[in-house]
Amino acid sequence: MNAIEQKTVFITGAANGIGRSMAIQFAEEGYFVFIADIDVDNGKLVEQRVIDGGGSAKFIRLDVRDEQAIKKVFNTISHLDVLVNNAGMTYAKSVEDLPASEWNTIIDLCLQSVFLCSKYALPALKKSEHPSIINMASINAFCVSPGLPAYSAAKGGIISLTKQMAVEYGAQNIRVNAISPGFILTEQTERALKEHESEWEMTLECYPLGRLGKPEDIAYAALFLADDKAGFINGINLVVDGGMSVQAVGAVIKPGLRSRWKEGFFKLEK
Ligand code: NAI
Repeated sequence: MNAIEQKTVFITGAANGIGRSMAIQFAEEGYFVFIADIDVDNGKLVEQRVIDGGGSAKFIRLDVRDEQAIKKVFNTISHLDVLVNNAGMTYAKSVEDLPASEWNTIIDLCLQSVFLCSKYALPALKKSEHPSIINMASINAFCVSPGLPAYSAAKGGIISLTKQMAVEYGAQNIRVNAISPGFILTEQTERALKEHESEWEMTLECYPLGRLGKPEDIAYAALFLADDKAGFINGINLVVDGGMSVQAVGAVIKPGLRSRWKEGFFKLEK
């Protein structure tokens, strides 16, 4: 496969967690992967992991809050098929406790980065025959928990921005979609769960499939959205949460409900 035929994907926040899994899966599908992250050590490890697996990748140190750095990086990329705006994080603080500076940090990292990376990636995407942008939102965009004011607002903004870009760039054949993951087990989220072990069972109980998500669940969704087979899918928010967010609150708060369904709910109720 020569360099022109090989599809390329640029993934932000690809040194860890979901982004790392996407880098590996896209590489396995034959994509050249740009791994963009501020975490140099883990970014280089992902690059090496892809190369050791027979794929091709390049790590780029990039802070997605830095407009000039983003501009500079995309100036060096002449052709791009897929941009995945994945970098994101939050602090758990209430509206009263969240300093404006931290609000801005989260909005810059989660939302403004989607705008800036898309803005500067567009010239390279326009040269592709199958261009696509995938933005990482969250079920917290529409289904919130206490302590996530900036994060929820940013993720809601991502879904609106996704629709906006899907309509603006549809005429140029650039599809723009979002993915909203539920609870995905990564090193970070596993660490947080271990600190609150009593909540583990409760969290699991909320997930109809009886498990939390794996980074690969999101990577496969991204691969599908990037593929030509998803060529008529534009402007959607693909929820990947094992059915968690479609439940009525009453179903989630009844202790043991999922296991009762599993055993045959109606039989038990007679
Ligand atoms: P993670 O914390 O494991 O990985 C995030 C990556 O972003 C890290 O490699 C980090 O170094 C990088 N990053 C942080 N600040 C950056 C910056 N300024 N510039 C460039 N890179 C930066 O996170 P995870 O869980 O893999 O999340 C990925 C995306 O999925 C995020 O947007 C997150 O909000 C979203 N998400 C995750 C869920 C989960 O349960 N893990 C659930 C819903 C959404």
